[in-house]
Amino acid sequence: MADRCALGKYVLRRFSRDDLEKVIRINEECLPEHYTPFFYLDLHQSFPNSFIVAELNGEVLGYIMCRVEWSLSEFDRWRLVKKGHVISIAVLPEHRRKGIGRALMVEAMKALRDYGASEIYLEVRVTNHPAISLYKGLKFEIVNRIKHYYSDGEDAYVMARKCDARIED
Ligand SMILES: CC(C)(COP(=O)(O)OP(=O)(O)OC[C@H]1O[C@@H](n2cnc3c(N)ncnc32)[C@H](O)[C@@H]1OP(=O)(O)O)[C@@H](O)C(=O)NCCC(=O)NCCS
Repeated sequence: MADRCALGKYVLRRFSRDDLEKVIRINEECLPEHYTPFFYLDLHQSFPNSFIVAELNGEVLGYIMCRVEWSLSEFDRWRLVKKGHVISIAVLPEHRRKGIGRALMVEAMKALRDYGASEIYLEVRVTNHPAISLYKGLKFEIVNRIKHYYSDGEDAYVMARKCDARIED
């Protein structure tokens, strides 16, 4: 991503340490999975280009954060590959269905590809239909189901896609 890019009246840009408090607040409002401040800063330090925020008039209202890992391919279990892992994405309720989640995903996927990832994967609650629909629209497929993945006992789908040259704009 260039330093920042526009999506109508919204702006997407890389996370900076000054955004930490706001990103933590968005995470706490939108998701039951929370992280320590160190976890956010560590991800940012290691993979700054795939930690992106969306803002409106200088107010952060959404984020995505990812990392890159070496592990077995989601598509060929015998092959060790570099994979992009979407750790967390959220958009504040009042700004949803405006294309921000999709734009955050697209910019993060491009950054992960630039880090050398050949695949991208994520976990999602099996009942999280908005998110599943977002990922399917970006050509992710369900490749696995992990029983009791979440601390409340809910299962996760693992969704993945190849990270080819044609990441949608
Ligand atoms: C999932 C989430 C990030 C989507 O953000 P968003 O900005 O609303 O998504 P977009 O506007 O870019 O939506 C892109 C597409 O995703 C699908 N989608 C998004 N929200 C949806 C909903 N409530 N119902 C059905 N489909 C939905 C649609 O296909 C949509 O395209 P369309 O609006 O043209 O129909 C947002 O709902 C959110 O923050 N949820 C809470 C946190 C969360 O669940 N994160 C994912 C954890 S794995």
